[in-house]
Amino acid sequence: MSSAPWPQAILLNGADAAAWAHLTFPSYVRFLTDPDSSIVVVGVRAWGRPAALGLARVDGESAEILSLYVVPDWRRQKLGTAVWKLIESELSQRGVRSAFATFSHPDVDVLQTFCGHCGWTAPVPSMHLVFAERWGVEGIPCFARLTGRPDWQLFPWAELTPRERELIEARLAAGEVPYALNPFIDDAYFEPATSLGVRQEGAVVGWQVNHRLAPVMHRFTATWVAAVPGSARMAMWLMGESVRRYLAQDIPRAVMGIQAGNARMLEFFDRRLRPHMSEIRTTYRAECHFPATRTAGRA
Ligand SMILES: CC(C)(COP(=O)(O)OP(=O)(O)OC[C@H]1O[C@@H](n2cnc3c(N)ncnc32)[C@H](O)[C@@H]1OP(=O)(O)O)[C@@H](O)C(=O)NCCC(=O)NCCS
Repeated sequence: MSSAPWPQAILLNGADAAAWAHLTFPSYVRFLTDPDSSIVVVGVRAWGRPAALGLARVDGESAEILSLYVVPDWRRQKLGTAVWKLIESELSQRGVRSAFATFSHPDVDVLQTFCGHCGWTAPVPSMHLVFAERWGVEGIPCFARLTGRPDWQLFPWAELTPRERELIEARLAAGEVPYALNPFIDDAYFEPATSLGVRQEGAVVGWQVNHRLAPVMHRFTATWVAAVPGSARMAMWLMGESVRRYLAQDIPRAVMGIQAGNARMLEFFDRRLRPHMSEIRTTYRAECHFPATRTAGRA
């Protein structure tokens, strides 16, 4: 009797990958069905069915592991390891020097052992994801009281000019704006109805950029204000204006991320927002650095 070969990790592209769509987040499905050259997709088919999927996005010499998932029946059989190893090899071939991943596994011990096994750094808390039902957001009193100033001009983020975009990109490149608050991440599905910018004396000095992760899920993604007088008030006002626009939409759930190291925001969250939230999840970040010798591949 011949036995079937053990499932192997394979690089997927185009039409093949669509069969794995249920193994990643809804917002990443487009990377499977409509991939561009920055995306690496690795899947495992076991006994004829998709059993594991890994997705990575390359950005120059670094890469982000967007998702890694093994179906429950196939866990602890090294499929996750196989997916990662093939992703790692493909990234090395492309000249990537380091990769990072952000996980929200409920059991941090599993992440710890899996990361150690795959040669990643130990995961450290990265972000607290706070979820609220629409009615919970409606009940938050602190945003309602805030007003702007006459010299702060609110504008829909969709109306950002190409020149303003260029200037913000230069600030990002110079490290003046933290990467996590980059308003252009996930550009393809930003939410125009709630995403706002603020201009002062003709310059963009703040933004609240949000995304529709799924029809039922709105993410308040990035709040940034420049170090101008009244910046704390500007940030609260901007969030409040964005929340008002969210409430005018019919989106049942909202999520917001708070950086694990942002003590001021966490203190504000504990004092004002926590009672209105339905769930809090912590995400963890792990990294992997590839030895230079392993990057000598394709240009
Ligand atoms: C985390 C995940 C990808 C691991 O995939 P997997 O195929 O089960 O992992 P592997 O079989 O390759 O495990 C390799 C090693 O990781 C560790 N590990 C994996 N799962 C573990 C668990 N549940 N508990 C403890 N250690 C675990 C072990 O050291 C294991 O080696 P061992 O079996 O020889 O002890 C999988 O559990 C999963 O898909 N979970 C849900 C999604 C998720 O949390 N993804 C995280 C990345 S976004």
